[in-house]
Amino acid sequence: MPDQPKHLLFVEDEAALRKAVAEQLADRGYQVQEAESGEVALAKLADFAFDIIVTDLRLPGLDGASLVQAAVERYPEIIAIVITGYGTVKDAVDAIKRGAWDFVSKPFQIDELLYVLDSAIEQRRLKSENAYLRAQLEERYRFEGIVGKSRVMERLFQLLETVAATNSTILVTGETGTGKEVVARAIHHNSPRRMHRFVALNCSAIPETLLEAELFGHVRGAFTGASGNRQGRLEQAHKGTLLLDEVGTMSPALQMKLLRVLQEREFERVGDSHTIRVDVRVIAATNSDLGQMVADGEFREDLFYRLNVIPIQLPPLRERKEDIPLLVRHFLDRFRGEPAPGASVKPPITVSQEAMRHLMSCQWPGNVRQLENAIERAVAFSAGRAQIDVGDLPPEIQNAQEPVTFSTVALPEEGLELDSFIASIERDLIQRSLERTGGNKGQAARLLGLKRTTLVEKIKRLGRLQ
Ligand SMILES: Nc1ncnc2c1ncn2[C@@H]1O[C@H](COP(=O)(O)OP(=O)(O)OP(=O)(O)O)[C@@H](O)[C@H]1O
Ligand SMILES: [Mg+2]
Repeated sequence: MPDQPKHLLFVEDEAALRKAVAEQLADRGYQVQEAESGEVALAKLADFAFDIIVTDLRLPGLDGASLVQAAVERYPEIIAIVITGYGTVKDAVDAIKRGAWDFVSKPFQIDELLYVLDSAIEQRRLKSENAYLRAQLEERYRFEGIVGKSRVMERLFQLLETVAATNSTILVTGETGTGKEVVARAIHHNSPRRMHRFVALNCSAIPETLLEAELFGHVRGAFTGASGNRQGRLEQAHKGTLLLDEVGTMSPALQMKLLRVLQEREFERVGDSHTIRVDVRVIAATNSDLGQMVADGEFREDLFYRLNVIPIQLPPLRERKEDIPLLVRHFLDRFRGEPAPGASVKPPITVSQEAMRHLMSCQWPGNVRQLENAIERAVAFSAGRAQIDVGDLPPEIQNAQEPVTFSTVALPEEGLELDSFIASIERDLIQRSLERTGGNKGQAARLLGLKRTTLVEKIKRLGRLQ
């Protein structure tokens, strides 16, 4: 609405004031029509759907509040603002009850009125946009079931759209539960390969000795228990996408074989010399820092570069808290149960603002998965109530609160022991930083502007002070 002409009906019986205000509103881009009485205003409203009506409350004949009521009855979307004389708040309240959006008291500066108008227009826009957006939510904020509207997630969606069309190898990194697998699936389903299979292999879930056969397949007798020929995941994913999850846990020998697949697109089944060629897009995922593993000599550098053609980093949930309400709604929708017998819609369920505050101040070491579990549990605990409350949340989330910041420290009458007092503050902040980072000392050190080694030393020293 801001860029469209705003059609405003200004109702005021005092001619001089009416003209002056109408002129100033017109200067600000409003399309103003004037009415000197409630009756004239009603007649104009009958013909034209104004965006806004601004009316004096005291009018000869039909009064402002009744006019507002009539206007809102006719046009539920109209923004009605009333002007009250002599600070009669009671009348203003009455008008608001009858549908006015806000009020301005006489005498007023034009800027005051403009401000009220601007904010009413903005709020109205948000309100109707929200209703519209809620309906569109599925489409707008989701890339194949990935919920998020934070800046990082918006950028991620753009990136996903771009990379889905290519064949490049992708390395998805992120803490546990940040959605690495959902992202991999989304890429596949938006790629030209979507008609073929998406095959996932979790490298850490399979014993090292079996992983090779799982990946490349095997022939009969290749090893004890290999009773027949078997396709590996690579072959299964031919023309499709292979997700290599927890790729950081692969043994050096297997890393080398994978490198060959990525370079040559060929391999042999275990126990066979026949070379198989495949057309597979590989997406690797990991929650460890592969770059660091390369530096530590735990992961092949050449393989790292082969995998890391397109890096996608998923942010931890605590760094995109604005997505939490959206995710909560998404999971509520999933877990709110089945429609009552005979009903066609699922029961509505919401989260109280207080519970939402807890959800938003939690550090979520388990990220989206943890939130998902928390909501599932809360829905179960809410036992059919329409609203989830703090008490329904898991204890660790009930206890979540924003860290207290120290503003001033009082010096007690009796004085204090400076060193031990400072140590206690240090200990407290270190503890909070560790809590916030789920015990990750590297991240905790960064939060405190320390080197990791310094933090470790401090922890040891403070431990002794206790
Ligand atoms: N942005 C999101 N929108 C909706 N659901 C999400 C989102 N991110 C994650 N999830 C959900 O959270 C759960 C965990 O996601 P996923 O398995 O992809 O995480 P992951 O990063 O692979 O975790 P891990 O490292 O533990 O394997 C899944 O149930 C997934 O559907
Ligand atoms: Mg995973």
